[in-house]
Amino acid sequence: MLAYRHAFHAGNHADVLKHAVLTLVLRHMNLKEKAYRLVDTHAGAGGYSLEGAYAQKKGEYEQGIARLWPREDLPEAVADYVNLVRRFNPDGQLKQYPGSPAFAQMLLRPQDQLRLFELHPTDFRILNAFVGESTGAEAKCADGFVALKGQLPPPSRRGVVLVDPSYEGHADYGKVVAMLREAVPRFAEGTYMVWYPQVQKLEAVRLPKRLQALAPKGWLHARLTVQRPDSQGFGLAGSGVFIINPPFTLHAQLQTLLPWLVGALAQYEGANFLLEQHAV
Ligand SMILES: C[S@@+](CC[C@H](N)C(=O)[O-])C[C@H]1O[C@@H](n2cnc3c(N)ncnc32)[C@H](O)[C@@H]1O
Repeated sequence: MLAYRHAFHAGNHADVLKHAVLTLVLRHMNLKEKAYRLVDTHAGAGGYSLEGAYAQKKGEYEQGIARLWPREDLPEAVADYVNLVRRFNPDGQLKQYPGSPAFAQMLLRPQDQLRLFELHPTDFRILNAFVGESTGAEAKCADGFVALKGQLPPPSRRGVVLVDPSYEGHADYGKVVAMLREAVPRFAEGTYMVWYPQVQKLEAVRLPKRLQALAPKGWLHARLTVQRPDSQGFGLAGSGVFIINPPFTLHAQLQTLLPWLVGALAQYEGANFLLEQHAV
């Protein structure tokens, strides 16, 4: 059963990390004229109202995008991301938050292809309406873990895969690894970006190590910790992104971005980041 709805979490600190890094990755792809395909295996609804009951229930965006929104001292790498969120809110008030498909639509060029998969029927309906007739974009109500292999390799042999499951049950961690074990050999040049939650579960702690084994040509791992887990050890302390075949410029960009985000998003004095990579 799919209980997870991203609308409760839209624009939180984890979305900030994920979408800031996704923006950097897609900007790098755009440096070459040649078309690429972006596959978003777990696309969500496309965009979210921050005024709606879901986002207001927990107000997670207040500790995320709302902290960056008014700042005028954003470093370049963060400013690009925040300006896209501003573009999504043309009246100048933070009322909507773009999901990964909306960032993709703002960043992809006419020659690029966007392939979106979302399994929740309600979120899929919203996503499908959001994508509409956009050139080059297709949304399917299908299991992204299964659908990915049919998308690889892309015809242009340039591509990015965003893997952003809800990790509702323990099974998603294993499914991410199994999917990439099959996908990477099919399309070894592709860039694969996996988001994961920093929670006290063995599967989450082990995931980056398991992904390293699938990335013979190089990887990058960035983690942002902003919150103290509760007394039982529960709660989302932070999140990470693990990238197989990252853009070669990304590590240097994150060396500036991550410490700045720690300062901007910290909810306790132990907030920190991790940045590691293996370049071949
Ligand atoms: C974390 S949210 C995605 C957020 C989105 N990528 C973004 O950045 O805006 C995860 C989504 O995956 C969907 N989902 C869960 N299992 C799925 C599956 N096997 N295939 C495709 N979508 C799935 C959930 O309904 C949820 O909308």
